[in-house]
Amino acid sequence: MFNPEEIKSHFPIFRRFEREGIIYLDNAATTQKPSEVIEAIVSYYENSNSNVHRGVYRIGEEATDLYNKSRENIASFIGGKPEGTIFVRNATEGLNLAASSLSRMIGKDGEVIVSRMEHHSNIVPWQIASQNTGIRLKMMESNVESHLKWEDVEKYLTDKTKIVSITHASNILGTINDLREMGKNLHDRGIIFIVDAAQSVPHMPVNVSDLDCDLMAFSGHKMLGPSGIGVLYGKPELLEEMPPYMGGGEMIKEVFEDHFIPADIPEKFEAGTPNIEGAIGLSAAVDFLKKLGMENVRAHEKDLISYTLRREEELNMPALRSYGPRNPEIRGGIYTFNIKKDSKDGRPFGNEVHPHDISHMADRIEGVELRSGHHCAMPQTVSLGVYATARASYYIYNTREDVDHLFNAIEKIGRRMIR
Ligand SMILES: Cc1ncc(COP(=O)(O)O)c(C=O)c1O
Repeated sequence: MFNPEEIKSHFPIFRRFEREGIIYLDNAATTQKPSEVIEAIVSYYENSNSNVHRGVYRIGEEATDLYNKSRENIASFIGGKPEGTIFVRNATEGLNLAASSLSRMIGKDGEVIVSRMEHHSNIVPWQIASQNTGIRLKMMESNVESHLKWEDVEKYLTDKTKIVSITHASNILGTINDLREMGKNLHDRGIIFIVDAAQSVPHMPVNVSDLDCDLMAFSGHKMLGPSGIGVLYGKPELLEEMPPYMGGGEMIKEVFEDHFIPADIPEKFEAGTPNIEGAIGLSAAVDFLKKLGMENVRAHEKDLISYTLRREEELNMPALRSYGPRNPEIRGGIYTFNIKKDSKDGRPFGNEVHPHDISHMADRIEGVELRSGHHCAMPQTVSLGVYATARASYYIYNTREDVDHLFNAIEKIGRRMIR
């Protein structure tokens, strides 16, 4: 039985707010951390702290063993191989690695396609790569009410397309894109397929073999793990071909005065002392999620978003505008909205209660913690006809009661702010 209240009891931060209550709905930004993760990190520091790969003394070997086992555990969680599992700081660093390394490989005539619903971390690295190498970046349109599928991507392909890099799930609209067929169809045309899985790996079963993607990036802190650790997963044969991203210790086999021989993967992409405690913490987070079952995590969030859309209809507040698909089958636990100051005003821009005000008031009125702003996805936000939105995003410890509090807050803010 999936029991959010029991799950919540594993998270020390919620004990701090036991009396006054806190309804944390900013999980797309980062999640809270259970004791199991915190304790795994503390235990590493108290018992085995040492640098990895170097020391042949006891705690050095222990640290190396913990680090390697963490990699194996995280790789198996996504159905991948340990040698294809590169530890990076976060999804952003994973996508920067991909853009920097691949843009040097594909040559200056190559085209890269991303979608409008991307987070900046899957846009800006390609723009930088374009400035550095001359590759061309194209942005696909995406329908706010629907998901991206193969036919949408196909329209943008040319004989110069070398890479398609798209998000599995949108951090603004909650859209879960249909990536089935994408890998096979792109590979048939010799195109590299990259998935930004920052909003999918934490929330649903994700298997890199099923997705048939070449590279996939995600962040530990969005899935109960610590900050500063994430993964770029890659098919080993592609990673072996890709040039290194950063140089330094750990990523070499041999260094000479005028050249170096890179280490085998994954070390080739892990220059310098890694985030050892981060990997151990993320592995503990993976254990926590495995116990819950990712099918159950997805089912729980689907229930919360279905309930949210129902509550919105019941509230029937004309000034409330929300975005994203209405079908919970293709929607994650993300609810993004605005409140118009004047519900009859048809102006697209500038007539909203500022989302920062919504976020501030929701916390003061109902203890509901929301995000506000452009959520690092400006092209998508601006295409909605606004500069900013308020966003609620759910996770394993949220309940239907939390959604009720969200709608109490929306109703009260509406009463105060709408003319
Ligand atoms: C879809 C998506 N991709 C990438 C990122 C970047 O994650 P991070 O800041 O952990 O690198 C985020 C963060 O919100 C995201 O939602």
